[in-house]
Amino acid sequence: MRHEENLTVDREVANQQLAIRGGKPVRTKALPLEFPGVHHMGKEEIEAVTRLLRSRSLFRYYGIDLQEEVEAFEAEFADYLGVTYAVAVSSGTGALNVALSALGVGPGQEVIIPAYLWVSVAAAVVNHGAIPVLADIDDTFCLDPKSVEASITSRTAGIIVVHMSGAPADVKAIQQVARRHKLFLLEDCAQRNGGSVDGQRVGTFGDVAAFSFQMNKNMTSGEGGCVVTNDLGLYRRAFACHDLGYARDDQGHLAFSDPDLCLWGKGYRLDELRGALLRVQLRKLPQIINNMRRSKCRIREALKRLSEIRLRRMVDPAGDTGCFLITTYADPETAKRVNEALRAEGIVTSPQGVSNVVMTEWGLHLYYNIPSLVKRTSVDGHGFPWSLQENAGSRTQYAKGTCPVADGLFERSIILAIPSSLTEQDEDDIIQAFEKVYRALLWR
Ligand SMILES: Cc1ncc(COP(=O)(O)O)c(C=O)c1O
Repeated sequence: MRHEENLTVDREVANQQLAIRGGKPVRTKALPLEFPGVHHMGKEEIEAVTRLLRSRSLFRYYGIDLQEEVEAFEAEFADYLGVTYAVAVSSGTGALNVALSALGVGPGQEVIIPAYLWVSVAAAVVNHGAIPVLADIDDTFCLDPKSVEASITSRTAGIIVVHMSGAPADVKAIQQVARRHKLFLLEDCAQRNGGSVDGQRVGTFGDVAAFSFQMNKNMTSGEGGCVVTNDLGLYRRAFACHDLGYARDDQGHLAFSDPDLCLWGKGYRLDELRGALLRVQLRKLPQIINNMRRSKCRIREALKRLSEIRLRRMVDPAGDTGCFLITTYADPETAKRVNEALRAEGIVTSPQGVSNVVMTEWGLHLYYNIPSLVKRTSVDGHGFPWSLQENAGSRTQYAKGTCPVADGLFERSIILAIPSSLTEQDEDDIIQAFEKVYRALLWR
């Protein structure tokens, strides 16, 4: 906004010299470096893990004094989300792989994936012998339903919608596309555990969903994941595939009688220690999310006054999990200058400063930053799955330029982590730094 009367930035702040030009920074203390679930770990987790260790029963199916923690966690997590079935697994990557196996994905099929994702999403498709097909994103920074529709071919088996950086995809519109074309919809909720859209939890919009409890996530057991579904058939297949390829009876013994569950296991079982930990973390999840959402909401509200700064479109702000703030600028040069200036004002974590970067620095979250995808490498050294006869003719373009909307957004946007432990003073400092940088660099 170029008109003085519309500019509500604090004058005193605005007239200060930027730290990057030798002025006094807004703050000298680094922002907290936080892993949300870890930050909230306390005596409850220690007690749960200690109790489990005392039982000396670490395996979910048998032990000296079996506690059935993984089974209890599955029931509690399913209940929290509002789904019928959950299979706890040892990672989010494992959850994606188990979900694709349950869905029967294989050579000759294409799976649509977003330009903004995590490497594991593409890896899971490739490891199943199918072809990942990139679709572009929109201003939600998640899949653009129109691009999804345009990417569908006669080989498309399904769509993986990834709720990125805490906020939701336009999942209802994507659900419509999937239904119209009779495609499966797999929701990747690794970065958005506990979020919702119009009061419905993410993870319940598709046929099946994958979660991660790796250490960066909203709740954590260091490593861990979960597959959830309302479909009994998918659940039974997921359950078999996460284990040894077969069902188990009520006592945890392998059961070979069902001819449909004579599959191949992936060995992604979760252990009891993590099961015990996750039960405690799940109880803390609402508080963790509330903290992050409240901080992010307050910062976003303040930034709305600075009209040269565009905010990520939120499909449902009330269901945001709040862990990242994304702001977009007119051009890449401006985004870079704003980011450098904000960092100089002290809007950066320590010791790792990766929480406030231009998105092109955001590593394996960007399709063109994934070397094995761009180069179409294969673990067998013979071109699997790209060279399979069944996959001949599929679109396999992954170099920068394939998804122009995403390319533009990545270059012009900054991603800032929002810890769950931000104080009001921290929030004030972030707002003040944006206002100061805005006044000096953007407002004319
Ligand atoms: C969107 C997304 N999907 C899947 C994963 C994989 O989870 P994990 O690290 O538990 O294997 C991650 C991890 O960061 C992720 O961000």
